[in-house]
Amino acid sequence: MRQTVLNLEESMIRQVANAGMGRSDVLKFWFGESDEATPQFIRDAAAASLQQGETFYAQNLGLPELREAISGYAQGLRTPGATKIGADRIAVTSGGVNALMLAVQALVDSSDEVVVVTPVWPNLTAQPAIMGAMVKCVSLKPVAGAWQLDMAELLAAVTIKTKVLILNAPNNPTGWTLSREEQQTLLAHCRETGTWILADEVYERLYYDAPPEALRACPQGAPGLGRPGAGQSRPACAPSFLDISEPDDRLVVVNSFSKSFLMTGWRLGWLVMPPAMTAQMGKLIEFNTSSAPVFIQRAGLVAIERTLDVTPRVVAHLKTCRDTLIPLLQALPGVQVAPARGGMYAFFRLEDQARFGDSLAIAKSLVLDAGLGLAPGNAFMVNPDSDAQGWLRWCFASQDLSRLEQGVQRLKSWL
Ligand SMILES: Cc1ncc(COP(=O)(O)O)c(C=O)c1O
Repeated sequence: MRQTVLNLEESMIRQVANAGMGRSDVLKFWFGESDEATPQFIRDAAAASLQQGETFYAQNLGLPELREAISGYAQGLRTPGATKIGADRIAVTSGGVNALMLAVQALVDSSDEVVVVTPVWPNLTAQPAIMGAMVKCVSLKPVAGAWQLDMAELLAAVTIKTKVLILNAPNNPTGWTLSREEQQTLLAHCRETGTWILADEVYERLYYDAPPEALRACPQGAPGLGRPGAGQSRPACAPSFLDISEPDDRLVVVNSFSKSFLMTGWRLGWLVMPPAMTAQMGKLIEFNTSSAPVFIQRAGLVAIERTLDVTPRVVAHLKTCRDTLIPLLQALPGVQVAPARGGMYAFFRLEDQARFGDSLAIAKSLVLDAGLGLAPGNAFMVNPDSDAQGWLRWCFASQDLSRLEQGVQRLKSWL
């Protein structure tokens, strides 16, 4: 077995979940998914495809009609004047995590330097490590519970030696979101250093504090996104590197059906890349999964075509969840938290950390002693020098808001 594989750490979120498995009295907020099943019309599309016998291999890069639909969807979310996102730049993948792994396989050689902005979902550091890369982390800084990028520090870290800069914004777990200006600075810098940007934008639609100028009229009238001039606004969407880049930039953007379409278990995602890279990516897909299953892609196609029937409702509800949970947490003495600008998590800190030990110990104690299932902050590579301990992640995607209130009551009693 390769040493890099032996060195991979067991997921800390799993360790906490294992502690509470089989206990129906635990309120579970540890995983990053909604407790609402995929809408019926999406399930029906997969069932119909199976009924019609669509059980065969598909094109490596995905069904042409799905790639076209994703192209229209992605373009419709962009600001006017943004680069063209043709279907020739798109590959359909088996989930966002597969899209990320494919991008890393395509870009990272053993011993390459990769810079990752943390705290972050652990897969983003594990995947380049599996390829044998040297992973350098640059940490966001917590200021009164909200996480901020020290741009000077990141620019100093990304040099001509850096093969890939990996960013996830809106961010899991902190909710931190890159501003347009920050993206412009980073893109200009990476053009100079010859560094690829791998942007994980799976939470782009889960964006709550869009400034009014981000909601100007929908330019393209893309499938499922409304038509220009019909009184529709451009849907809320976090700033994307696709808004400001050229097709040939060293940029790969990862997206997923999981979060915006309530499709976590389906394992369907996509990549946007420079056109010259697409055929190479097709080869890599052949050697990884060969293709996403056809009936899953049919479901994805309907989800994209009927985005308006899913995503706005999901995002509005998640905003209500956020606005329910955060003030309740803020009202607890010793809890530091700021509202997430995007994503589906409250990332908060128990200030009196010394009393409780590290965040894994806290999360396990919360499960066993309070029946509250949260993810430990340490799982996300919180920088040990900066207020390391006592961070916890709470996925607030709950259909029933009273579960969030009950959870806060349990935390309060435990504290
Ligand atoms: C930041 C981030 N990227 C990518 C993913 C992958 O999502 P999926 O593989 O379900 O598409 C997740 C899932 O939680 C995530 O949090």
